[in-house]
Amino acid sequence: MRYTSCMSRKKLIVVSVVIVILAAVVSFLILKHDDSPLVRPITHSKSNQKKTDNPPQPAVFDAKKFSIDDSTSLWAVVNKLRPLTPKTYVPSNLVVPNIPLRGNITSTEKYVRSDTATALEKMVADATAQGVHFNLQSGYRSYDFQVTLYNRYVQQQGQAAADTQSARPGYSEHQTGLAADLGGTSNPSCNVEAFYGTTAESNWLAANADKYGFIVRYPQDKTPITGYTYEPWHVRYIGTELSTELQDKNIQTLEEFFGLPAAPDYQ
Ligand code: DAL
Ligand code: ZN
Repeated sequence: MRYTSCMSRKKLIVVSVVIVILAAVVSFLILKHDDSPLVRPITHSKSNQKKTDNPPQPAVFDAKKFSIDDSTSLWAVVNKLRPLTPKTYVPSNLVVPNIPLRGNITSTEKYVRSDTATALEKMVADATAQGVHFNLQSGYRSYDFQVTLYNRYVQQQGQAAADTQSARPGYSEHQTGLAADLGGTSNPSCNVEAFYGTTAESNWLAANADKYGFIVRYPQDKTPITGYTYEPWHVRYIGTELSTELQDKNIQTLEEFFGLPAAPDYQ
């Protein structure tokens, strides 16, 4: 029994020593291991730094957010290949914007869509504060009004020339209520003329319209795409989301931005 007991004690000591050595080795290995969460100070962790240092991702622009086909849409694209639907479309939310109006403006043309009116009012107020004075030459035009206007151009210039300046009825952006021809007081004889492009108002519009959600819809040198000669006075409301995107991407026309066919002529 004493022998057995003695042997058991020896075994116990050996086993204990082995356990202590193993524990020491394991502890050493754990402490040495770089990725162990037990020893890695959180503030110096590479993986944690990655998480906190990730820059916020820019929001991806959703080019399908609004329809380009629906005539009621903020992003409706109307051109010689894309008439209003129906061609006699009338916007439902027309209001007279609180901005100066051309003295002899017609009862139709003094209206624009309410969202366009709000943006116009802000833009014109800011321009006025900077010493640039706009008035509304022409806003909404009904189908019937465009019939009269277009026919007058045809009578005066012939159809080919008329088609470069005036839309046929059912094809005018003015009929959406989202377009506005803006004149100015610095040189009123230039209003709705090519010379308008040399005025302070035109320069201001070219530099600032996008901040208010507008684009100059018929830019210089884009006639093969838009189908119309330069109209530095004609602005189109598309909202700041899209106007900013166009500005950032340095794209001038809706046709180019949405990958639509150029529309120099009617079908
Ligand atoms: N002047 C523009 C193109 C229109 O008639 O709508
Ligand atoms: Zn116009």
